[in-house]
Amino acid sequence: MTARIIDGLLLSQQLRAEVAERTAELTARGYQPGLAVILVGNNVASQIYVRNKIKACNDNGLYSVYDCYTDDLTEADLLTRIGVLNSDPKIHGILVQLPLPPHINAYKIIEMIAPEKDVDGFHIANAGALMTGKPLFRPCTASGVLKMLEYQGIPLAGANAVVIGRSNIVGKPIAMLLVQADATVTICGRKTRDLAVHTRSADIIVAATGKRNLVTASMVKPGATVIDVGISRDDDGKLCGDVDFASVREVAGYLTPVPGGVGPMTITMLLISTIEAADRAAGGNGCDCTRLSGGLCSTRLQTLLI
Ligand code: GUN
Repeated sequence: MTARIIDGLLLSQQLRAEVAERTAELTARGYQPGLAVILVGNNVASQIYVRNKIKACNDNGLYSVYDCYTDDLTEADLLTRIGVLNSDPKIHGILVQLPLPPHINAYKIIEMIAPEKDVDGFHIANAGALMTGKPLFRPCTASGVLKMLEYQGIPLAGANAVVIGRSNIVGKPIAMLLVQADATVTICGRKTRDLAVHTRSADIIVAATGKRNLVTASMVKPGATVIDVGISRDDDGKLCGDVDFASVREVAGYLTPVPGGVGPMTITMLLISTIEAADRAAGGNGCDCTRLSGGLCSTRLQTLLI
């Protein structure tokens, strides 16, 4: 079997056309969706991610502010800046790129972001509400992964899903969304004794560790869906994921590539969250992007989540 490739770039392009349309509608009503992105320090990967987020805003008509600080920025100054953005009516979403330098307490910073502008969905109010299925925002990578599964028509109810990686940013929120979609979910981490025992019985594998070639063909049940969230570089400096793409492709039923898989979807879902935030600021319920998400920020997901 050769896996069907789930093209995150193509799906993103389709969604972004609607993002641009919805953005134009809100802008015409005086509510141009606005995103503030904050980067502290000179982490090269973070610089690239942030640049792509700003570019996506510019390309689709969203207003954006990019604050780039050197790593001697104090925690107090960052808290003050977030306070200013919290009360800026042109800004509907605030994203502080992680990781932060060690002298800044990321927890404190995330808690400073107003929950109604927390487009990352990392604030404890949104992360907590994710447990009950009613957050204002869902973490972008997690909702991007669910969107790809939904787009491809992959059944979730009753499926055995294995999530490898248990970070607050990716692994845990993906697991939570899969649970809410009635999958039977196993979360594996560094101390998992025999990863392959779990993955071999999985209908869906989501790998989110940053460890190159962690998932090999012998770990995958024939026909399974494999979603690669990892991102790292091989010895030649080429981008790659957690999955040994060439071998797994011969076994899996569906597979996401790196690059061109989950990455673009993360940014697309960020744009959608920012539009939802602007829609709420304009007096809407934030769910008018139904066409956009085809379900994820919409009643369809909400029904899924209840
Ligand atoms: N670092 C890696 N992924 C993310 C993300 O989705 N949001 C933020 N804020 N930082 C990240």
